Amino acid sequence: MNIGNVELRHGLLLAPLAGFTDLAFRTVCAELGAEYAVSEMISAKAVMMNNKKTLGLAKTAALPTAIQLFGAEEDAVAYAAEFFSQGGLPTGEVAAIDLNMGCPMHKIVSNGEGSALLCDLKKAEKVISAAVKASKLPVTVKIRSGWDDTCINAPDAARVAEAAGAAAITVHARTRAQFYTGAADHRITEQVVRAVKIPVIGNGDIKSVGDVQRLRDMGCAAVMIGRGAVGDPWIFSRIIAAMEGREYAEPTVRERVELALRQLRMSVEDKGEHVAVPEARKHLAAYVSGFPGAAAARAGINSLTRVEDIARLLLNAAKEAEQPRI
Ligand SMILES: Cc1cc2nc3c(=O)[nH]c(=O)nc-3n(C[C@H](O)[C@H](O)[C@H](O)COP(=O)(O)O)c2cc1C
Repeated sequence: MNIGNVELRHGLLLAPLAGFTDLAFRTVCAELGAEYAVSEMISAKAVMMNNKKTLGLAKTAALPTAIQLFGAEEDAVAYAAEFFSQGGLPTGEVAAIDLNMGCPMHKIVSNGEGSALLCDLKKAEKVISAAVKASKLPVTVKIRSGWDDTCINAPDAARVAEAAGAAAITVHARTRAQFYTGAADHRITEQVVRAVKIPVIGNGDIKSVGDVQRLRDMGCAAVMIGRGAVGDPWIFSRIIAAMEGREYAEPTVRERVELALRQLRMSVEDKGEHVAVPEARKHLAAYVSGFPGAAAARAGINSLTRVEDIARLLLNAAKEAEQPRI
């Protein structure tokens, strides 16, 4: 599929994960085969107020990236869509504007934003239309299955988005009530594929080439991978190898640690050590998960504040883990 002038050959996208998918992680995923990413969600109102921290979330590089906005006020969403789509930030190219209609958090939905828009499709239509009018780039929309079991309305939401001019729809096949628990139910993804003509991107619990194939067979144009990539960005290269029928050599413990440290250093370059180290802890813990001695390594990661100390700890842990066991 194409989003604007970006061609997605394997159709593997990195999902937006607030607090995780920063520039460093997106860069690592791009190196391993992710073809497109979506930024962490960004408040349209904060963009209007020129909030510097918010704008920092929108840095792009290495792979085509959509900037994801959340908001329920047409003026703010239109302002932010126009701002990012015409290169408002000197920090890299933007591929598209994505609108968040899936965030389940109370502080978001209580303002009528995120997945609350699924309960007010008239409002959603206005917000999407405003973004489409203001944006110089394609506008895509990310939705959930619905609000809860009694309100599964993703096909209606998708039709509204299509009529308002959206270029593609991502479906996270869980309801708002599920947050991130329980299994994704991709029967709803299939219903969305049938409901609209624009490309549908499937999302939720994608871990293997089999999961990708199932969604492609349903008619999804591409898939978006979220938590499966945390600590395992090789998920992209592993799936691509399987798609192409190639053998795949899993990374060694040392390679895992080396990539974790490279990601950490990129993040430090971007944000400085005092911000990057605390933020990177959850990534580092995920990278070492499953190693012999992982629990001790995690405890160290959580107490250290300097990159060089973390590097020493993790390289030693890798050496220990690779010792032959008697
Ligand atoms: C920690 C975390 C942060 C997330 N942040 C966002 C976000 O900013 N915008 C968004 O549209 N979805 C967000 N999501 C949802 C994911 O993009 C994705 O839809 C969901 O995790 C299901 O995909 P997965 O099973 O592959 O993780 C987030 C999910 C998690 C777990």
